[in-house]
Amino acid sequence: MLASGILDVGWLVGLGVGIAGLVIGQGILRALVRLKVPWWPSVAGGLLALGPAAGLLVGAWLAVGSTDAVAFGSGDAPVAARIGWTLVLFFAASTAYGLIRSFLSSRLAQEELGIRIPGLIFDAGRLFLWIGMVFVVIVTVWHGRQVVMQVLAVAGLSTLVIGLALQETLKNFIAGMAIVIEGTYTLGDWIFIGEDEGEVLSITRRTTKIRNRMGDVVTVPNSLVTMGKVRNESRPTALHAEFVFVTVTYDSHPNHVRDVIREAVLEVPKVLREPAPVIRVAKFGESGVEYEAKLWLTDVASAPDIRSDARVQIWYHFRRAGIRPAYPVRDVRERPPEAADPKGERAAALRRLRTVPFFTALPEELIERLAEGATVRDYAAGEAVCRQGQAGDACYVVDAGSVAVAVGNGRDAERQVAVLGVGSLFGEMSLLTGEPRSATVRAREDTRLVGIGSDTLRVALERAPELAVCLAEVATLRKEGLLEAQAALDAAANARVQASSRRLSDVIVRFFRLPADGRPRPPGA
Ligand code: CMP
Repeated sequence: MLASGILDVGWLVGLGVGIAGLVIGQGILRALVRLKVPWWPSVAGGLLALGPAAGLLVGAWLAVGSTDAVAFGSGDAPVAARIGWTLVLFFAASTAYGLIRSFLSSRLAQEELGIRIPGLIFDAGRLFLWIGMVFVVIVTVWHGRQVVMQVLAVAGLSTLVIGLALQETLKNFIAGMAIVIEGTYTLGDWIFIGEDEGEVLSITRRTTKIRNRMGDVVTVPNSLVTMGKVRNESRPTALHAEFVFVTVTYDSHPNHVRDVIREAVLEVPKVLREPAPVIRVAKFGESGVEYEAKLWLTDVASAPDIRSDARVQIWYHFRRAGIRPAYPVRDVRERPPEAADPKGERAAALRRLRTVPFFTALPEELIERLAEGATVRDYAAGEAVCRQGQAGDACYVVDAGSVAVAVGNGRDAERQVAVLGVGSLFGEMSLLTGEPRSATVRAREDTRLVGIGSDTLRVALERAPELAVCLAEVATLRKEGLLEAQAALDAAANARVQASSRRLSDVIVRFFRLPADGRPRPPGA
């Protein structure tokens, strides 16, 4: 309850103006402290420290000196005492707030104790402290419960007006509170906001400031932060992974390369041993095998240096281990215009054909002609070069390895008739007679053959008819060999048929309990 209407309201207004003056004065002094004028900071700093002390003293003198100490809270206390108590309460609260704030901002709290409180929280704290103090003073010292009720009644309207006027500021303030309460980030965290990354320097009621890798400060309004995406590399723990890629030539064994990379990156002091680095084969690239090293670290700000150090270590380790980093290589080779025998097939064929007994009598230029039309082909062990019964349009000379000639009886059995080694000719029979292949010829091991097509052979036969005579002789001999084999196969087949028919008749005899000599039994026996 206000003691005597207008007078008390006058005092109240005076008190408000006084407090506002003090706050403004404090603000001016603070601004002066920040000025670069050499002697100002100390003077202004001193005044700042003296101000509250003087306020407290004056307040105490008014409260206690003008009346007795019991005056606090009593309804009939003189106005001077009430002003005194008001001053005492305000300055005591603001001194306590200042002490707590300067402790929390001190190097001891921030660096030793690790307490880092954003400026936003101090600002909010001061605001609530002042509002709280105003209400406390009005109610306890000035007994203005009604005033408080009136203030609260008009608060709705004033909040609307103030809210509209301070829309942006409030938005940023509330966004700042959300960032702090949600723990999106705090001072010292390494964050990405949009395209900017850096260490959080401050979170104030309006903005968040980060210092990027270039040492520049980026200021982002808090409301923008909460509207966009934030990546915090310091949360949930300080652990952060970085990737280093390196490409190695295909001739190095992947497990060996992974071991060497692991050993190399662990040489970098800021790469953690636990969790251990992970080395993966990322892909088989155009120029080599790409490896991915996942390194764990806590010093996010130094990530580029750590990656660089890891690459340096990998380079030296690779060099010592004989591992070659790969890089894209393009070989541009000009093909010589006269390279008619790019794979050297003709030369190889010529070398081989000169050693074949049939061809030694031929003139050199004819052998060269044969070689010109020849092919050189590789066959795997067991592979069939030609099969019995198929049409044949080429003969072959064994250049390396050996082949087996086998004849079959058209059913399941096959008999090997010859093994032909280096320099031997085969497949000539079909070529000379036009008949199907007389036998199946298979590579016994990995074998290289020089093939001569029928057209090429015909040219040689026309030029050197004696060659036909030689080949015909060989073919006849071979035919004999084939016939013998065929006969042996047939004999074996006959023997098999007889044996199997004997077995069958034995079974029938046993089954019907017939006499073993096959004679009919007398009736009734
Ligand atoms: P051709 O019938 O064209 O195909 C199979 C080839 O096997 C045949 O020609 C001969 O060159 C070869 N040949 C067939 N019988 C024998 C044998 N008894 N000894 C060596 N080579 C043979």
